[in-house]
Amino acid sequence: MSKGVYIHIPFCVRKCLYCDFCSTGDHSLMKEYVNALINEIKEHKGTFADTVFIGGGTPTVLGDELIRVINAVKEAFRLEPSCEFTVEANPGTVDYNLLSKMKEAGVNRLSLGVQSFNDNELKALGRIHSAVEAKEAFLMARKAGFDNINIDIMLSTPHQTLESVKSTLEAVKEMNPEHVSAYSLIIEEGTPFYDMELDLPDEDTEREIYYYTVEYLKSMGLERYEISNFAKTGYEARHNIKYWTQEEYIGLGVAAASFENNCRYTNTCDIASYINGKRYDEREFIDKDEQLKEKFMLGLRMSRGVKYSGEFEETIEKLIAKGLLEKKDGFVHLTEKGFDLGNVVFMEFV
Ligand SMILES: C[S@@+](CC[C@H](N)C(=O)[O-])C[C@H]1O[C@@H](n2cnc3c(N)ncnc32)[C@H](O)[C@@H]1O
Ligand code: SF4
Repeated sequence: MSKGVYIHIPFCVRKCLYCDFCSTGDHSLMKEYVNALINEIKEHKGTFADTVFIGGGTPTVLGDELIRVINAVKEAFRLEPSCEFTVEANPGTVDYNLLSKMKEAGVNRLSLGVQSFNDNELKALGRIHSAVEAKEAFLMARKAGFDNINIDIMLSTPHQTLESVKSTLEAVKEMNPEHVSAYSLIIEEGTPFYDMELDLPDEDTEREIYYYTVEYLKSMGLERYEISNFAKTGYEARHNIKYWTQEEYIGLGVAAASFENNCRYTNTCDIASYINGKRYDEREFIDKDEQLKEKFMLGLRMSRGVKYSGEFEETIEKLIAKGLLEKKDGFVHLTEKGFDLGNVVFMEFV
């Protein structure tokens, strides 16, 4: 069966204030990193793949070196003709020339980290681009031929109000993307946000923002197919669905995770060690019990839910009685209430 391929690019123009992804604004090892990464890609010569996701960090900071990585992937892997090939881009790092080259090289899906269409919110997040630049990046991507674009937005960020989210969503509607990911801000330990006094929306506003966003995106014709992901029919992210359905994937580059032969491997996040040949830091065998737990913890994130054949019967019946789960056509899935209280449901399977 064809696999998913994830490739991590650990460089950004500079770190956003909330981000704990493995990435750095120090580009001194960039060239050597790309060379080491291409060597790792070559190790997989002949492997069949039907989704590729180049993420980060900010893959587009590599400029033309990104095209080298894309070409190396095409040379090494046997990509299915219908392969979904996504690259993540920060709107402050793209121009028409680079987008056209990416498209020409075979990238057929672009994921733009917009976060907000309000400049004061973007500034508070430490983003490198303005709202106008985010719109320009989107329109340039369309012009370069991208007909499958995702926009990432963030909810409950500093200074956000229901009114400001409405204006972000109106701008999203104007762009008319095929896919939207809406993530609520998580304040991660070790990030500048963790130690800052932030002007965050209160709990009631947070709920309002969340409900308004879900309903607004649905009214745009985007179906909520996963807790934080909305897509037009046929544009669901196939690569991400592999994670939620426990299909095999190969992760290349620092911090990338792989899942193969019931093992999850996670590569080191240290760029210098990676360049010196170090690969995974962690190797975890996922036994049958763990696989079953993950089947529910990951699978229930999706609207379609999990194919059900009687596992965790007591837990499932309890969650059904609480109105959080529902059984239908041989599947068990979250109800509307279950979507809102996802964490309560997932805790039951830990
Ligand atoms: C790797 S980043 C995307 C691409 C690119 N690096 C960018 O930011 O433009 C993936 C997405 O995760 C989300 N994200 C990152 N850190 C987050 C946090 N602490 N809380 C919530 N969402 C977060 C953002 O929406 C971001 O676009
Ligand atoms: S959110 Fe994106 S651009 Fe910002 S630091 Fe994280 S990976 Fe880099």
